[in-house]
Amino acid sequence: MTLQMPLVAAISLTLLLTSMSRQCTAQEFIWGTATSSYQIEGAWDVDGKGMSIWDEFVRRNGTTIKDNSTGDIACRSYEKYKEDVQLLKQLGVNGYRFSISWPRVLPNGTLAGGINEKGIQYYVNLVDELLANGIQPMATLYHWDLPLTLQNEFEGWESEQIIPHFVDYAKLMFEKLGDKVKWWITFNEPWVFNVVGNGEGRHAPGKKELKTTLYIVGHNLLRAHAKAYRIYEKDFKPRRAKLASRSMAPTSCRRTRPANWTRKPLRDGVHVWLVLRPGVLRRLPEEMKTRIGNKSAAAGLPKSRLPEFTADEKAELKGSSDFFGLNYYTSSIAEHKILSNDGGYYDDQDLVSSLDPSWPGSGSIWLKVTPFGIREGIKWLSERYDNPPLWSRRTEFLTMTGPPVTNTGLTSTESTSATLRRPRTSSSAT
Ligand SMILES: *[C@@H]1O[C@H](CO)[C@@H](O)[C@H](O)[C@H]1NC(C)=O
Ligand SMILES: *[C@@H]1O[C@H](CO)[C@@H](O)[C@H](O)[C@H]1NC(C)=O
Ligand SMILES: *[C@@H]1O[C@H](CO)[C@@H](O)[C@H](O)[C@H]1NC(C)=O
Ligand SMILES: *[C@@H]1O[C@H](CO)[C@@H](O)[C@H](O)[C@H]1NC(C)=O
Ligand SMILES: *[C@@H]1O[C@H](CO)[C@@H](O)[C@H](O)[C@H]1NC(C)=O
Repeated sequence: MTLQMPLVAAISLTLLLTSMSRQCTAQEFIWGTATSSYQIEGAWDVDGKGMSIWDEFVRRNGTTIKDNSTGDIACRSYEKYKEDVQLLKQLGVNGYRFSISWPRVLPNGTLAGGINEKGIQYYVNLVDELLANGIQPMATLYHWDLPLTLQNEFEGWESEQIIPHFVDYAKLMFEKLGDKVKWWITFNEPWVFNVVGNGEGRHAPGKKELKTTLYIVGHNLLRAHAKAYRIYEKDFKPRRAKLASRSMAPTSCRRTRPANWTRKPLRDGVHVWLVLRPGVLRRLPEEMKTRIGNKSAAAGLPKSRLPEFTADEKAELKGSSDFFGLNYYTSSIAEHKILSNDGGYYDDQDLVSSLDPSWPGSGSIWLKVTPFGIREGIKWLSERYDNPPLWSRRTEFLTMTGPPVTNTGLTSTESTSATLRRPRTSSSAT
């Protein structure tokens, strides 16, 4: 069975802003589509590809995916990439965001396990094909398909052992594609694979532990992001200054409060707390530290469930992105309420969220059509992170249309995506 993925629903755009007043010309937009490797490539076991955690997850004996479908075949983009590029061309787009399957290029996740040259060649061919057709490639290093070996060996992102392996992988891809790909993203939607994968168990690796694991995972992925960024900055940006003028950022930040919005980013949780803030300001927000620290103490724990960054890690993290990619889907209403001390991630935020029944619906229960949230979200971000480097390059929005594929969260649609970019004049990235 194949996944039916309405990829054509995906449209993205980039616009270059010359000022806060959002002036732009048609030429400065990049319209594109976005996909992920597991979602479209298929060819799950050919040409030396290793297994990913998703390849394993969907095989768990009829318990994880409602109709037992898998991404084994998917859209067959591994074999039909040229056709897909022609489809992009017919759509009239000039940008395409895709992700690289880590186990396709490093089958056991590590350099020691060997590079799969056929896997590398696939991405080189794809990028060449895109460029030959006037479509700008944007590469995401991690769109959730972790090499299974790393999960089995040390629980993947739960262990800091993953950091050097991620850095090796990132460096390898910068070396192979860095002269052609100008836009890199380290992690696509870290909130989703972390909270849904480690906390709720609906995504691979299917863990259900909301109290501590997801904070450790968030901690490790930020450390990995910072290290990968520094390598890019040191070894790749100067040499290829013309091309590699920007680098990577975690994407996310998707729910905003529409009315009487307080400044507290509670519902954004790991989005903002664990991803955005440290990448910009070198530290976790105080309110997050005190709240989780207080709750941990009240629950009788010897120390906070939230890990702390070392001074070196903070320094490495600060300003570790050249642009911030914002995927926007929908909004919810957040209301402050004191919740339990040992309930975990959701209770740590001390809020309850709800949806306004008057908002138009979509194929997903959680996805209401709330275009106002884009504006409010950007306004809030720019106020909260006053003059942040994250605004100096790029912002990306996503909204979503079309039905979900499964009840267990095989993410099926990445849809309308808009990318906003400011000129490189205003603020410095480091
Ligand atoms: C799947 O699980 C069911 C119920 O636990 C069991 O009877 C069956 O043998 C399992 N099938 C496979 C292929 O493991
Ligand atoms: C999925 O697989 C399980 C276990 O093998 C089986 O019981 C179930 O009928 C399958 N569901 C569908 C929709 O094929
Ligand atoms: C990957 O393969 C190498 C070489 O065989 C081996 O040394 C290493 O332990 C393997 N790593 C994992 C995580 O399986
Ligand atoms: C926000 O709006 C809700 C619903 O209108 C209201 O009950 C609440 O008091 C408001 N909160 C603030 C802080 O204004
Ligand atoms: C944490 O506890 C301290 C001391 O009781 C209190 O002053 C502070 O307001 C609490 N912070 C949060 C975010 O709950």
